Amino acid sequence: MSDKKTSNQMWGGRFASGPAAIMEAINASISFDRKLYAQDIRGSIAHSEMLAQTGIISAADQEKIAHGLNTILKEIEAGSLEFSTKLEDIHMNVEARLADLIGPAAGRLHTARSRNDQVAVDLRLWVKDECFRVAEALKGLMTALLERAEEHAATVMPGFTHMQAAQPVTFGHHCMAYVEMFSRDLSRVRDAIERMDESPLGAAALAGTSFPIDRHQTARALGFREPMRNSLDSVSDRDFALEFLAMAAICATHLSRLAEEIIIWSTPQFGFIRLSDSFSTGSSIMPQKKNPDAAELVRGKTGRVNGHLVGLLTVMKGMPLTYGKDMQEDKESVFDAAETLDLMMAAMTGMVADMTVNAAAMKKAAGSGHATATDLADWLVRTLGLPFREAHHVTGRAVALAEDKKVSLEKLSLEDLQSINPGITSDIFSVLAVQNSIKSRTSFGGTAPSEVRKQIRSWKKRLAKA
Ligand code: ARG
Repeated sequence: MSDKKTSNQMWGGRFASGPAAIMEAINASISFDRKLYAQDIRGSIAHSEMLAQTGIISAADQEKIAHGLNTILKEIEAGSLEFSTKLEDIHMNVEARLADLIGPAAGRLHTARSRNDQVAVDLRLWVKDECFRVAEALKGLMTALLERAEEHAATVMPGFTHMQAAQPVTFGHHCMAYVEMFSRDLSRVRDAIERMDESPLGAAALAGTSFPIDRHQTARALGFREPMRNSLDSVSDRDFALEFLAMAAICATHLSRLAEEIIIWSTPQFGFIRLSDSFSTGSSIMPQKKNPDAAELVRGKTGRVNGHLVGLLTVMKGMPLTYGKDMQEDKESVFDAAETLDLMMAAMTGMVADMTVNAAAMKKAAGSGHATATDLADWLVRTLGLPFREAHHVTGRAVALAEDKKVSLEKLSLEDLQSINPGITSDIFSVLAVQNSIKSRTSFGGTAPSEVRKQIRSWKKRLAKA
């Protein structure tokens, strides 16, 4: 048995042909970075145009290059270009194909450029496009929520803290809370676009180049505001990907909270909503069941998105300046998070738009659990001038009495209430009714239908301009 054979058995595994095969497998990124083909070609065309305009390459070569790259774009889109793992990544696959098509002129494209600035600009372009897609999807989701809020601005439901019925609110108010949350995601994605709107192209490997390139021109041609100011930073920065993932993780977390509520609301025990058949499934064995699978998957997929943020943060935390191959690990996180988030938002928008709201069940639940106890305490403060702490105490005794009698707070008689505090008058019943409690919460941002409608109107205007 030769030494070679022994060691190969130890580390070869399924990589039959030894170190070369292992290296190829760990090194290649074409299986996933092929997604960047359009950005890669766009970046190369812009770069070649700049090279021709600055006289670094001839106009004739540039024409061949651009023509060849456009042919490759069509080939990839038609699925007729075979990618090779031997050629490692999308950049080398495209360049090799260009050489097949146009010969030696292809070799001039990579003048004053490195794969380091090339991959940085490709991924930035991709992430920026995706950010615009996310912004549109967020607007769609907010619109669906606004529509439900408008329908249900006065539909009473219990508001919860600690998952215990706390005070009555309206379903419209609840929907509007999510509009606020998703609007912050929208503003986060726009902030991220602002910051990533700088081009790394032309930083070359890390130090810039001695060729008389025009980085402002390529930045403009690719739709960036300006070139990045430091060549080292240009090739080593992945903040744009991290910011995208951070935004995605927060947005996914919001979607997950809404999904969790939808799951709870659609249980027979709550019965607040019914999901449409298109967003739920039946059970193969229990005919009575209707499972909220889409909502559960939105909740479940949040784990992936959040994981991708932690994954890339962990890759980046060990990176000395500038580029290291570790950074090739940025792409799968970004691609999977983007695909997952797009799907989650589409499913959530569909669920929100299609679900049936059971206002009667919500109202019934809002009236149970002495949900207007705070209104009783507030009345004691307002009408009898009691300090709030004392009013709280009196109300506690009223709740205890109601529990003894197995009735809800508003069903206690005036005599019952007066036995606790003789100053109480029949006026109290006006605040104990759930509907009145709702109407009275007119403070800015409160749940009174009049306030909720104000917010809906203002959001509709803002969204139309967004
Ligand atoms: N596939 C590489 C990546 O995704 C491209 C950059 C390679 N640069 C290099 N110096 N090896 O990061």
